[in-house]
Amino acid sequence: MDSAALQALQRDDADHHLHPFTPHRQMRASGTHVITGGDGVYLEDATGRRMLDGIAGLWCVNVGYGRSEIVDAVEQQMRQLAYYCSFFNSTTEPAIRLATKLARLAPPGLGHVFFTGSGSESNETALKLVRGYHIARGQPRRTKVIARRYAYHGVGLGSTSLTGLDTCLTPFGLPLPGFLHAPAPHRYEDPDPKRRAMSPEDYGAWCVDETRKLIEAEGPDTVAAVFAEPVQGAGGVIVPPAGYLTALRELCREHGILFVADEVITAFGRLGGWFASSMWSLEPDLISTAKGLSSGYLPIGAVMVRDEVAETLHDAGYLAHGFTYSGHPATCAAALANLGIIERENLVGYVADDIGPYFQAKLQAFAGHPAVGEVRGLGLIGALELLDNRGKVEGPLGPWFAERTREKGVIVRGIRNLIAVSPPLVITKPEVDELFAAVSATLDELA
Ligand SMILES: Cc1ncc(COP(=O)(O)O)c(C=O)c1O
Repeated sequence: MDSAALQALQRDDADHHLHPFTPHRQMRASGTHVITGGDGVYLEDATGRRMLDGIAGLWCVNVGYGRSEIVDAVEQQMRQLAYYCSFFNSTTEPAIRLATKLARLAPPGLGHVFFTGSGSESNETALKLVRGYHIARGQPRRTKVIARRYAYHGVGLGSTSLTGLDTCLTPFGLPLPGFLHAPAPHRYEDPDPKRRAMSPEDYGAWCVDETRKLIEAEGPDTVAAVFAEPVQGAGGVIVPPAGYLTALRELCREHGILFVADEVITAFGRLGGWFASSMWSLEPDLISTAKGLSSGYLPIGAVMVRDEVAETLHDAGYLAHGFTYSGHPATCAAALANLGIIERENLVGYVADDIGPYFQAKLQAFAGHPAVGEVRGLGLIGALELLDNRGKVEGPLGPWFAERTREKGVIVRGIRNLIAVSPPLVITKPEVDELFAAVSATLDELA
Protein backbone atom coordinates (compact mmCIF):
# COMPACT_ATOMS: atom_id res chain seq x y z
CA MET A 1 0.00 0.00 0.00
CA ASP A 2 1.48 3.41 -0.88
CA SER A 3 2.01 5.86 1.93
CA ALA A 4 -0.75 8.28 0.82
CA ALA A 5 -3.30 5.42 0.86
CA LEU A 6 -2.06 4.29 4.27
CA GLN A 7 -2.26 7.79 5.71
CA ALA A 8 -5.82 8.15 4.43
CA LEU A 9 -6.75 4.85 6.06
CA GLN A 10 -5.14 5.91 9.32
CA ARG A 11 -7.07 9.19 9.23
CA ASP A 12 -10.37 7.34 8.69
CA ASP A 13 -9.43 4.94 11.46
CA ALA A 14 -8.72 7.81 13.86
CA ASP A 15 -12.00 9.51 12.89
CA HIS A 16 -14.36 6.55 13.05
CA HIS A 17 -12.96 3.43 14.64
CA LEU A 18 -13.12 2.80 18.38
CA HIS A 19 -10.47 0.17 19.14
CA PRO A 20 -10.56 -2.36 21.97
CA PHE A 21 -8.05 -1.82 24.81
CA THR A 22 -6.33 1.14 23.15
CA PRO A 23 -5.24 4.59 24.37
CA HIS A 24 -6.94 6.43 21.50
CA ARG A 25 -5.28 9.82 21.82
CA GLN A 26 -1.83 8.23 21.81
CA MET A 27 -2.72 5.98 18.85
CA ARG A 28 -3.97 8.93 16.81
CA ALA A 29 -0.66 10.68 17.30
CA SER A 30 1.41 7.71 16.15
CA GLY A 31 -1.01 6.30 13.52
CA THR A 32 -2.54 2.86 13.91
CA HIS A 33 -0.57 -0.15 12.74
CA VAL A 34 -2.42 -1.67 9.76
CA ILE A 35 -1.83 -5.40 9.21
CA THR A 36 -2.50 -6.68 5.71
CA GLY A 37 -1.36 -10.28 5.44
CA GLY A 38 -0.20 -13.39 7.26
CA ASP A 39 1.58 -16.64 6.53
CA GLY A 40 2.70 -19.21 9.12
CA VAL A 41 4.04 -17.25 12.11
CA TYR A 42 4.63 -14.09 10.06
CA LEU A 43 2.48 -11.03 9.49
CA GLU A 44 2.88 -8.29 6.95
CA ASP A 45 1.85 -4.68 7.55
CA ALA A 46 0.66 -1.99 5.15
CA THR A 47 4.20 -0.74 4.61
CA GLY A 48 5.25 -4.22 3.44
CA ARG A 49 7.16 -5.01 6.66
CA ARG A 50 7.30 -8.64 7.77
CA MET A 51 7.00 -9.36 11.48
CA LEU A 52 7.15 -12.55 13.52
CA ASP A 53 3.92 -12.76 15.53
CA GLY A 54 5.11 -13.86 18.96
CA ILE A 55 1.63 -13.65 20.48
CA ALA A 56 -0.41 -15.54 17.82
CA GLY A 57 -2.77 -12.61 17.19
CA LEU A 58 -4.33 -12.52 20.65
CA TRP A 59 -3.16 -15.93 21.93
CA CYS A 60 -5.36 -17.58 19.33
CA VAL A 61 -3.82 -18.33 15.91
CA ASN A 62 -2.69 -21.81 16.98
CA VAL A 63 -2.26 -23.28 13.47
CA GLY A 64 -0.64 -20.12 12.06
CA TYR A 65 -1.81 -17.79 9.31
CA GLY A 66 -2.72 -18.62 5.73
CA ARG A 67 -4.27 -22.08 6.12
CA SER A 68 -6.29 -22.47 2.93
CA GLU A 69 -7.81 -25.70 4.25
CA ILE A 70 -9.84 -23.67 6.78
CA VAL A 71 -10.77 -21.09 4.15
CA ASP A 72 -11.94 -23.83 1.77
CA ALA A 73 -14.04 -25.52 4.46
CA VAL A 74 -15.72 -22.22 5.30
CA GLU A 75 -16.29 -21.36 1.65
CA GLN A 76 -17.87 -24.72 0.96
CA GLN A 77 -20.16 -24.40 3.98
CA MET A 78 -21.16 -20.84 3.14
CA ARG A 79 -22.01 -21.78 -0.44
CA GLN A 80 -24.18 -24.61 0.82
CA LEU A 81 -25.76 -22.81 3.80
CA ALA A 82 -24.30 -19.56 5.10
CA TYR A 83 -26.45 -19.44 8.22
CA TYR A 84 -29.06 -21.19 10.21
CA CYS A 85 -29.65 -21.10 13.95
CA SER A 86 -29.67 -23.81 16.60
CA PHE A 87 -32.77 -22.42 18.37
CA PHE A 88 -36.18 -24.13 18.61
CA ASN A 89 -35.27 -27.74 17.81
CA SER A 90 -33.16 -26.85 14.76
CA THR A 91 -29.47 -26.93 13.98
CA THR A 92 -26.99 -27.59 11.17
CA GLU A 93 -24.65 -30.47 10.42
CA PRO A 94 -21.37 -28.70 11.26
CA ALA A 95 -22.70 -27.76 14.72
CA ILE A 96 -23.55 -31.40 15.46
CA ARG A 97 -20.21 -32.63 14.13
CA LEU A 98 -18.27 -30.07 16.15
CA ALA A 99 -20.17 -30.78 19.38
CA THR A 100 -19.46 -34.49 18.91
CA LYS A 101 -15.78 -33.87 18.19
CA LEU A 102 -15.35 -31.61 21.23
CA ALA A 103 -17.09 -34.10 23.48
CA ARG A 104 -14.51 -36.69 22.35
CA LEU A 105 -11.56 -34.39 22.95
CA ALA A 106 -12.72 -33.02 26.32
CA PRO A 107 -11.81 -34.55 29.69
CA PRO A 108 -14.06 -37.52 30.57
CA GLY A 109 -17.57 -36.60 31.68
CA LEU A 110 -17.75 -33.27 29.85
CA GLY A 111 -19.78 -34.57 26.94
CA HIS A 112 -22.07 -31.58 26.35
CA VAL A 113 -21.30 -28.39 24.46
CA PHE A 114 -22.93 -24.95 24.29
CA PHE A 115 -21.67 -22.81 21.39
CA THR A 116 -20.90 -19.11 21.71
CA GLY A 117 -19.13 -16.48 19.60
CA SER A 118 -16.23 -15.57 21.90
CA GLY A 119 -14.46 -16.18 25.19
CA SER A 120 -16.54 -13.50 26.91
CA GLU A 121 -19.74 -15.14 25.70
CA SER A 122 -18.45 -18.50 26.90
CA ASN A 123 -17.94 -17.12 30.41
CA GLU A 124 -21.27 -15.28 30.37
CA THR A 125 -22.85 -18.58 29.36
CA ALA A 126 -21.00 -20.49 32.08
CA LEU A 127 -22.19 -17.93 34.67
CA LYS A 128 -25.81 -18.44 33.64
CA LEU A 129 -25.61 -22.24 33.39
CA VAL A 130 -24.10 -22.34 36.89
CA ARG A 131 -26.96 -20.24 38.30
CA GLY A 132 -29.54 -22.30 36.40
CA TYR A 133 -28.01 -25.52 37.74
CA HIS A 134 -28.20 -24.44 41.39
CA ILE A 135 -31.76 -23.14 40.99
CA ALA A 136 -32.77 -26.45 39.37
CA ARG A 137 -31.28 -28.29 42.35
CA GLY A 138 -33.19 -26.19 44.85
CA GLN A 139 -30.24 -24.04 45.92
CA PRO A 140 -31.18 -20.59 44.60
CA ARG A 141 -29.07 -18.89 47.29
CA ARG A 142 -25.93 -20.01 45.48
CA THR A 143 -25.37 -16.87 43.42
CA LYS A 144 -21.92 -15.58 44.41
CA VAL A 145 -18.95 -16.28 42.22
CA ILE A 146 -15.28 -16.32 43.13
CA ALA A 147 -12.49 -15.57 40.66
CA ARG A 148 -8.88 -14.56 41.29
CA ARG A 149 -6.90 -11.34 41.18
CA TYR A 150 -5.06 -10.94 37.86
CA ALA A 151 -7.78 -13.06 36.23
CA TYR A 152 -8.98 -12.08 32.77
CA HIS A 153 -12.34 -13.51 31.78
CA GLY A 154 -13.66 -11.09 29.17
CA VAL A 155 -15.69 -7.94 28.70
CA GLY A 156 -19.39 -8.63 29.35
CA LEU A 157 -20.79 -7.25 32.59
CA GLY A 158 -20.45 -10.68 34.22
CA SER A 159 -17.15 -11.64 32.65
CA THR A 160 -15.63 -8.23 33.44
CA SER A 161 -16.86 -8.67 37.02
CA LEU A 162 -15.00 -12.00 37.12
CA THR A 163 -11.86 -10.28 35.87
CA GLY A 164 -9.43 -9.38 38.63
CA LEU A 165 -7.71 -6.40 37.01
CA ASP A 166 -8.41 -2.88 38.28
CA THR A 167 -7.72 -1.45 34.83
CA CYS A 168 -10.73 -3.39 33.51
CA LEU A 169 -13.00 -2.91 36.55
CA THR A 170 -12.53 0.67 37.78
CA PRO A 171 -13.48 2.59 34.59
CA PHE A 172 -16.87 0.86 34.56
CA GLY A 173 -17.69 0.80 38.27
CA LEU A 174 -17.43 -2.99 38.43
CA PRO A 175 -17.47 -5.72 39.71
CA LEU A 176 -21.20 -6.25 40.12
CA PRO A 177 -22.28 -7.33 43.62
CA GLY A 178 -21.63 -11.00 44.34
CA PHE A 179 -18.39 -11.25 42.32
CA LEU A 180 -15.50 -11.85 44.70
CA HIS A 181 -11.77 -12.12 44.18
CA ALA A 182 -9.34 -14.43 45.95
CA PRO A 183 -5.54 -14.14 45.68
CA ALA A 184 -3.80 -15.51 42.60
CA PRO A 185 -0.65 -17.62 42.96
CA HIS A 186 1.48 -14.66 41.92
CA ARG A 187 4.20 -14.06 44.51
CA TYR A 188 6.25 -11.71 42.36
CA GLU A 189 3.89 -8.72 42.66
CA ASP A 190 2.71 -9.41 46.22
CA PRO A 191 3.32 -6.19 48.18
CA ASP A 192 4.13 -8.14 51.37
CA PRO A 193 7.87 -9.02 51.46
CA LYS A 194 7.25 -11.94 53.85
CA ARG A 195 4.86 -13.56 51.42
CA ARG A 196 7.16 -12.81 48.48
CA ALA A 197 9.84 -14.80 50.32
CA MET A 198 7.64 -17.93 50.52
CA SER A 199 8.33 -20.94 48.31
CA PRO A 200 5.98 -21.12 45.29
CA GLU A 201 4.25 -24.15 46.85
CA ASP A 202 3.74 -22.42 50.22
CA TYR A 203 2.43 -19.35 48.43
CA GLY A 204 -0.02 -21.55 46.49
CA ALA A 205 -1.16 -23.14 49.77
CA TRP A 206 -1.64 -19.65 51.28
CA CYS A 207 -3.81 -18.67 48.27
CA VAL A 208 -6.01 -21.74 48.74
CA ASP A 209 -6.28 -20.95 52.44
CA GLU A 210 -7.37 -17.40 51.71
CA THR A 211 -9.94 -18.72 49.22
CA ARG A 212 -11.24 -21.09 51.90
CA LYS A 213 -11.56 -18.18 54.37
CA LEU A 214 -13.42 -16.14 51.75
CA ILE A 215 -15.86 -19.01 51.11
CA GLU A 216 -16.42 -19.48 54.84
CA ALA A 217 -16.90 -15.75 55.44
CA GLU A 218 -19.46 -15.48 52.62
CA GLY A 219 -21.23 -18.70 53.59
CA PRO A 220 -20.39 -21.79 51.49
CA ASP A 221 -24.05 -22.33 50.57
CA THR A 222 -24.16 -18.90 48.88
CA VAL A 223 -21.25 -19.60 46.52
CA ALA A 224 -22.19 -20.89 43.07
CA ALA A 225 -18.83 -21.31 41.36
CA VAL A 226 -15.13 -20.65 41.27
CA PHE A 227 -13.74 -19.56 37.88
CA ALA A 228 -10.04 -20.12 37.18
CA GLU A 229 -7.73 -20.00 34.18
CA PRO A 230 -5.31 -22.93 34.65
CA VAL A 231 -2.49 -20.59 33.59
CA GLN A 232 -3.58 -16.95 33.95
CA GLY A 233 -2.85 -15.31 30.62
CA ALA A 234 -3.66 -11.63 30.08
CA GLY A 235 -3.13 -10.96 33.80
CA GLY A 236 0.55 -11.73 33.32
CA VAL A 237 1.16 -15.43 32.49
CA ILE A 238 0.83 -16.73 36.05
CA VAL A 239 1.83 -20.38 36.16
CA PRO A 240 0.33 -22.24 39.13
CA PRO A 241 2.75 -23.82 41.63
CA ALA A 242 2.58 -27.58 42.26
CA GLY A 243 -0.50 -28.59 44.22
CA TYR A 244 -2.33 -25.26 43.96
CA LEU A 245 -4.91 -26.02 41.25
CA THR A 246 -5.80 -29.45 42.57
CA ALA A 247 -6.25 -28.03 46.10
CA LEU A 248 -8.46 -25.23 44.73
CA ARG A 249 -10.51 -27.77 42.81
CA GLU A 250 -10.86 -29.97 45.91
CA LEU A 251 -11.97 -26.99 47.99
CA CYS A 252 -14.85 -26.45 45.55
CA ARG A 253 -15.86 -30.09 45.74
CA GLU A 254 -15.90 -29.96 49.56
CA HIS A 255 -18.47 -27.15 49.48
CA GLY A 256 -20.65 -28.17 46.51
CA ILE A 257 -19.28 -25.23 44.52
CA LEU A 258 -18.96 -25.71 40.76
CA PHE A 259 -15.46 -25.39 39.32
CA VAL A 260 -15.26 -23.60 35.97
CA ALA A 261 -11.96 -23.79 34.10
CA ASP A 262 -11.52 -20.84 31.74
CA GLU A 263 -9.47 -22.45 29.00
CA VAL A 264 -10.00 -19.72 26.42
CA ILE A 265 -6.21 -19.53 26.03
CA THR A 266 -5.07 -22.91 27.30
CA ALA A 267 -7.31 -25.33 25.36
CA PHE A 268 -6.35 -26.82 22.00
CA GLY A 269 -2.65 -27.36 22.51
CA ARG A 270 -1.13 -24.18 23.94
CA LEU A 271 0.28 -25.98 27.02
CA GLY A 272 0.90 -29.34 25.35
CA GLY A 273 -2.49 -30.97 26.05
CA TRP A 274 -5.88 -30.69 24.33
CA PHE A 275 -7.19 -29.23 27.59
CA ALA A 276 -5.01 -27.94 30.44
CA SER A 277 -7.62 -29.29 32.88
CA SER A 278 -6.59 -32.83 31.93
CA MET A 279 -2.95 -32.00 32.58
CA TRP A 280 -3.81 -31.35 36.25
CA SER A 281 -6.73 -33.84 36.40
CA LEU A 282 -9.00 -30.97 37.43
CA GLU A 283 -12.25 -32.61 36.34
CA PRO A 284 -14.00 -29.23 35.97
CA ASP A 285 -17.77 -28.92 35.91
CA LEU A 286 -17.58 -26.53 32.98
CA ILE A 287 -14.79 -25.43 30.63
CA SER A 288 -14.94 -22.15 28.71
CA THR A 289 -13.15 -22.12 25.35
CA ALA A 290 -12.80 -19.90 22.27
CA LYS A 291 -9.64 -18.59 20.53
CA GLY A 292 -7.71 -21.77 19.52
CA LEU A 293 -10.99 -23.55 18.72
CA SER A 294 -10.90 -21.91 15.28
CA SER A 295 -7.37 -20.46 15.58
CA GLY A 296 -9.16 -17.12 15.22
CA TYR A 297 -10.15 -17.78 11.60
CA LEU A 298 -13.79 -17.10 12.53
CA PRO A 299 -15.25 -16.07 15.90
CA ILE A 300 -16.46 -19.08 17.86
CA GLY A 301 -16.38 -20.27 21.45
CA ALA A 302 -17.74 -23.31 23.25
CA VAL A 303 -18.60 -24.17 26.83
CA MET A 304 -17.98 -27.80 27.70
CA VAL A 305 -20.50 -28.95 30.31
CA ARG A 306 -20.32 -31.90 32.68
CA ASP A 307 -23.00 -34.44 31.81
CA GLU A 308 -24.63 -34.27 35.24
CA VAL A 309 -24.89 -30.47 34.99
CA ALA A 310 -26.38 -30.76 31.49
CA GLU A 311 -28.87 -33.44 32.61
CA THR A 312 -29.97 -31.26 35.54
CA LEU A 313 -30.55 -28.36 33.14
CA HIS A 314 -32.45 -30.67 30.78
CA ASP A 315 -34.71 -31.77 33.64
CA ALA A 316 -35.36 -28.14 34.53
CA GLY A 317 -37.03 -27.65 31.14
CA TYR A 318 -36.60 -24.84 28.64
CA LEU A 319 -32.99 -23.57 28.37
CA ALA A 320 -33.64 -19.86 27.84
CA HIS A 321 -30.14 -18.93 26.75
CA GLY A 322 -28.36 -18.71 23.41
CA PHE A 323 -26.92 -16.40 20.80
CA THR A 324 -28.11 -15.86 17.23
CA TYR A 325 -24.71 -17.22 16.22
CA SER A 326 -24.52 -20.18 18.66
CA GLY A 327 -23.41 -23.04 16.43
CA HIS A 328 -23.10 -20.82 13.32
CA PRO A 329 -22.41 -23.35 10.55
CA ALA A 330 -19.52 -21.41 8.95
CA THR A 331 -17.71 -20.90 12.26
CA CYS A 332 -18.24 -24.57 13.14
CA ALA A 333 -16.81 -25.56 9.74
CA ALA A 334 -13.77 -23.38 10.47
CA ALA A 335 -13.34 -25.01 13.90
CA LEU A 336 -13.66 -28.53 12.47
CA ALA A 337 -11.01 -27.82 9.82
CA ASN A 338 -8.77 -26.20 12.44
CA LEU A 339 -9.07 -29.14 14.87
CA GLY A 340 -8.38 -31.45 11.91
CA ILE A 341 -5.07 -29.64 11.30
CA ILE A 342 -4.11 -29.76 14.99
CA GLU A 343 -4.78 -33.52 15.00
CA ARG A 344 -3.18 -34.38 11.65
CA GLU A 345 -0.03 -32.37 12.34
CA ASN A 346 0.10 -33.61 15.95
CA LEU A 347 0.54 -30.05 17.17
CA VAL A 348 -0.40 -31.02 20.74
CA GLY A 349 2.42 -33.57 20.84
CA TYR A 350 4.76 -31.10 19.10
CA VAL A 351 4.17 -28.58 21.91
CA ALA A 352 4.43 -31.21 24.66
CA ASP A 353 7.58 -32.97 23.50
CA ASP A 354 9.45 -30.85 21.01
CA ILE A 355 8.87 -27.14 20.46
CA GLY A 356 7.49 -26.46 23.97
CA PRO A 357 10.60 -27.73 25.80
CA TYR A 358 12.82 -25.91 23.27
CA PHE A 359 10.89 -22.66 23.77
CA GLN A 360 11.00 -23.02 27.58
CA ALA A 361 14.77 -23.69 27.58
CA LYS A 362 15.34 -20.53 25.55
CA LEU A 363 13.04 -18.54 27.81
CA GLN A 364 14.64 -19.82 31.02
CA ALA A 365 18.06 -18.83 29.67
CA PHE A 366 17.06 -15.20 30.38
CA ALA A 367 16.92 -15.90 34.14
CA GLY A 368 19.74 -13.92 35.72
CA HIS A 369 19.83 -11.30 32.95
CA PRO A 370 20.16 -7.91 34.72
CA ALA A 371 16.92 -6.66 33.10
CA VAL A 372 14.91 -9.78 34.08
CA GLY A 373 13.26 -10.14 37.50
CA GLU A 374 11.47 -13.46 36.92
CA VAL A 375 10.86 -15.94 34.13
CA ARG A 376 7.57 -17.85 33.94
CA GLY A 377 6.26 -20.24 31.35
CA LEU A 378 4.73 -23.54 30.36
CA GLY A 379 4.28 -25.20 26.98
CA LEU A 380 4.20 -22.46 24.39
CA ILE A 381 3.47 -19.54 26.68
CA GLY A 382 6.01 -17.48 28.56
CA ALA A 383 6.63 -14.24 30.41
CA LEU A 384 9.60 -12.16 31.48
CA GLU A 385 9.25 -9.73 34.38
CA LEU A 386 11.35 -6.72 33.42
CA LEU A 387 13.67 -4.59 35.55
CA ASP A 388 14.75 -1.05 34.79
CA ASN A 389 17.74 -0.80 37.11
CA ARG A 390 19.01 2.41 35.55
CA GLY A 391 15.66 4.19 35.41
CA LYS A 392 15.74 4.46 31.61
CA VAL A 393 12.01 4.12 30.98
CA GLU A 394 9.11 6.38 31.94
CA GLY A 395 5.92 4.47 32.68
CA PRO A 396 5.34 0.71 32.60
CA LEU A 397 8.13 -1.36 31.07
CA GLY A 398 5.97 -3.90 29.20
CA PRO A 399 4.48 -1.58 26.54
CA TRP A 400 7.87 0.15 26.11
CA PHE A 401 9.55 -3.22 25.59
CA ALA A 402 6.90 -4.47 23.16
CA GLU A 403 7.27 -1.30 21.08
CA ARG A 404 11.09 -1.64 20.90
CA THR A 405 10.81 -5.32 19.98
CA ARG A 406 8.21 -4.60 17.29
CA GLU A 407 10.72 -2.20 15.71
CA LYS A 408 13.00 -5.25 15.39
CA GLY A 409 10.27 -7.18 13.54
CA VAL A 410 8.92 -9.28 16.43
CA ILE A 411 5.56 -8.84 18.19
CA VAL A 412 5.37 -9.57 21.91
CA ARG A 413 2.74 -8.31 24.37
CA GLY A 414 3.58 -5.76 27.03
CA ILE A 415 1.60 -6.03 30.29
CA ARG A 416 2.47 -3.81 33.27
CA ASN A 417 6.22 -4.43 33.76
CA LEU A 418 6.35 -7.73 31.89
CA ILE A 419 6.16 -9.18 28.43
CA ALA A 420 4.12 -12.20 27.41
CA VAL A 421 4.99 -14.47 24.51
CA SER A 422 2.64 -17.08 23.04
CA PRO A 423 3.43 -17.83 19.38
CA PRO A 424 1.48 -20.02 16.95
CA LEU A 425 1.94 -23.72 17.80
CA VAL A 426 3.48 -24.31 14.36
CA ILE A 427 6.52 -22.18 15.17
CA THR A 428 9.84 -23.85 14.24
CA LYS A 429 13.10 -23.82 16.23
CA PRO A 430 14.78 -21.23 13.95
CA GLU A 431 11.68 -19.05 14.35
CA VAL A 432 11.84 -19.42 18.15
CA ASP A 433 15.50 -18.35 17.90
CA GLU A 434 14.48 -15.32 15.83
CA LEU A 435 11.78 -14.39 18.35
CA PHE A 436 14.14 -14.56 21.33
CA ALA A 437 17.02 -12.85 19.50
CA ALA A 438 14.83 -9.74 19.23
CA VAL A 439 13.77 -10.08 22.89
CA SER A 440 17.41 -10.48 23.91
CA ALA A 441 18.45 -7.35 21.99
CA THR A 442 15.73 -5.28 23.70
CA LEU A 443 16.71 -6.70 27.11
CA ASP A 444 20.28 -5.54 26.46
CA GLU A 445 18.96 -2.05 25.66
CA LEU A 446 17.11 -2.02 28.99
CA ALA A 447 19.98 -3.38 31.09
C1 LIG B 1 -8.80 -16.59 29.70
C2 LIG B 1 -9.65 -15.70 28.85
N1 LIG B 1 -10.98 -15.74 29.03
C3 LIG B 1 -11.80 -14.99 28.29
C4 LIG B 1 -11.31 -14.13 27.33
C5 LIG B 1 -12.25 -13.28 26.53
O1 LIG B 1 -12.30 -13.75 25.23
P1 LIG B 1 -12.88 -12.82 24.04
O2 LIG B 1 -11.93 -11.70 23.86
O3 LIG B 1 -12.95 -13.77 22.88
O4 LIG B 1 -14.23 -12.38 24.47
C6 LIG B 1 -9.93 -14.07 27.10
C7 LIG B 1 -9.36 -13.17 26.08
O5 LIG B 1 -8.18 -12.91 26.03
C8 LIG B 1 -9.08 -14.86 27.91
O6 LIG B 1 -7.76 -14.82 27.75
